[in-house]
Amino acid sequence: MERKPGHRAQGTGVSKPTRPRPRPATTSEIVTAPEIRASKGTRRLVMVTAVDEPSARLADLAGVDIVLVGDSLGMAALGRPDTLSVTLDEMIHHTHAAAAGARRALLVADMPFGSYQASVADAVRSACRLIAQGSARAVKLEGPRCDETAAITAAGIPVVGHLGLTPQAVHRLGGYRVQGRGVEEALRVVEQARALERAGAFLLVLEAIPAPLAAAVTRRVGIPTIGIGAGPACDGQVLVLADLLGLSDAPAPRFVRRYADLGRVIREAIEAYAADVRAGRYPAPEETYPSPPGLAAALAKHLGDD
Ligand code: KIV
Repeated sequence: MERKPGHRAQGTGVSKPTRPRPRPATTSEIVTAPEIRASKGTRRLVMVTAVDEPSARLADLAGVDIVLVGDSLGMAALGRPDTLSVTLDEMIHHTHAAAAGARRALLVADMPFGSYQASVADAVRSACRLIAQGSARAVKLEGPRCDETAAITAAGIPVVGHLGLTPQAVHRLGGYRVQGRGVEEALRVVEQARALERAGAFLLVLEAIPAPLAAAVTRRVGIPTIGIGAGPACDGQVLVLADLLGLSDAPAPRFVRRYADLGRVIREAIEAYAADVRAGRYPAPEETYPSPPGLAAALAKHLGDD
């Protein structure tokens, strides 16, 4: 059997991968959509995005309530300029990877552009694929999509709404702008939030709206709100992990707080590795498998080396 370095076969002395396994989650530890809905007013919720197993596992181990496989995947991991070209297949692929890491946190997958806009039937089909093939435990749709929310909920799938700045509508909105600044528009957002709650949404993301509007929505709905650029009055907050960790080199929006500069840490680590390889410092003897006695001499003999 061919063995890859870093994978142990019995008795070879080849070390196991050192990465810790996700801690096992018992049923009572697992965060569910009904539990999130019922948490309104009792605690602040923490949501973060993840796009693969390592990022979801680390977020899960850090104790977040909700891991969102957002379509910000396009910018965070796929090198795209916006979210519009992210496909349902890509979302399923990344959600399935993140599901392996999110053992306890509630895993929510974004429904990407084009997967729910054409019809309610499309919306239900796309949501079912994210659950069945991606192993998501809830889905998120942008905009006041009440019919779609009701139909997906009726199919047994918990739905997260998303109001305010909805990046999939960037062209209609004329850019990534703060929404709900005028009174009429702000009142419309409040109405949309209430309509989404009535349609069955169990959670609502509010993106890039003035803090008093987010506070008004939060007071007027019975489901928790999660803010991103919506001030402190929401029931919880979400950040894109690449922004939080300092992995992105694009200018960060005003609401982003960087908790680490991993971009610098990673680049410096790779530079150090490259310098070691070029100078012959890597691998050292302790990083090299020892030769069985006589092998070097036998090879030299058979191959005619000096
Ligand atoms: O795609 C995403 O990351 C999101 C968050 C900004 C809420 O929708």
